[in-house]
Amino acid sequence: MFPQTRLRRLRLTPQIRRLVQETHLNPAQLVWPTFVVEGHNIVEPISSMPGQYRYSVDQLAKEVKKLHEEKIGGILIFGVPTKKDPHASEATKKDSLVAQAIAAVKDAKPDFVVMSDVCLCAYTDHGHCGLVDSKGEIQNDASLEVLVQMALRHAEAGADMIAPSDMLDGRIKVIRKFLDEGGFSMTPIMSYAAKYSSAFYGPFRDAAHSAPNFGDRKSYQLNPTNAKEALREIALDIEEGADIVMVKPALPYLDIIAKAKERFDLPIAAYQVSGEYVMLKEKAAILESLTAIKRAGADIIITYFARQVAEQARQLIHELS
Ligand code: PBG
Repeated sequence: MFPQTRLRRLRLTPQIRRLVQETHLNPAQLVWPTFVVEGHNIVEPISSMPGQYRYSVDQLAKEVKKLHEEKIGGILIFGVPTKKDPHASEATKKDSLVAQAIAAVKDAKPDFVVMSDVCLCAYTDHGHCGLVDSKGEIQNDASLEVLVQMALRHAEAGADMIAPSDMLDGRIKVIRKFLDEGGFSMTPIMSYAAKYSSAFYGPFRDAAHSAPNFGDRKSYQLNPTNAKEALREIALDIEEGADIVMVKPALPYLDIIAKAKERFDLPIAAYQVSGEYVMLKEKAAILESLTAIKRAGADIIITYFARQVAEQARQLIHELS
């Protein structure tokens, strides 16, 4: 009790504050999501996400040396194909765009971690994350077969981790099974386990040309009102074989991150999504948001700020030493 107890004692100097700091942003646990397009020599600014680009495979491979120097944890690749059809056939064909990108990045730096997003929304002409029938309803089980093929193409190309983001039922179970049977039993799955039907994905849908052209994603993504259901989704994905589970978006769902951290004993990832990215301008606010996500319990943060924050984190360390 005051006056004996004075919490300000441990806040008086930068050195003391550093000594008692509870949360650290580690660049090695930040993952940079990025977009790959067909063609050659393309580095195309994304108008809805200033500071982010779509890369052709050759240009993405060129970035890898820099990414390695920035010492971030890895990249998460999204394909933006030009051809879309009802079956998402560009996603599953041999030597698909993302498969090429994975192989090129691994070729440039074999020990740099490459994760790949597995979802059909950028590949279907209707923009939904699964196949749809003539009534426009999602065909859950038929979609799983396509997702499996997509995941296999990525694993064959050398992906270090597969990240299914479709939110259909049962996908982790079947992807795990087919990866195992296909000789990829050591390829981990980072599941977008608690992915909400969120208004914060707008800029990404523009970047990935993946907005649904009818309806919405509410029949598969979580209702933002629900927390228990998110924990059920996470528990199921763990049972089905997920190695890492993700909560997405991040800052509006810190409660879910914290609950997941408390309840489950595997690494928790959080995705700071495109809408969060565009709302943040000031460096200090970016760092504070990422720190909050970490403090809530995220081990890994997927963030478009990964690269610039890695640089800042290094500078901060220099300032104090
Ligand atoms: C695809 C997918 C989305 C995001 C990642 N994977 C969008 C969506 O569900 O429409 C959003 C990422 C972001 O906003 O940064 N299923």
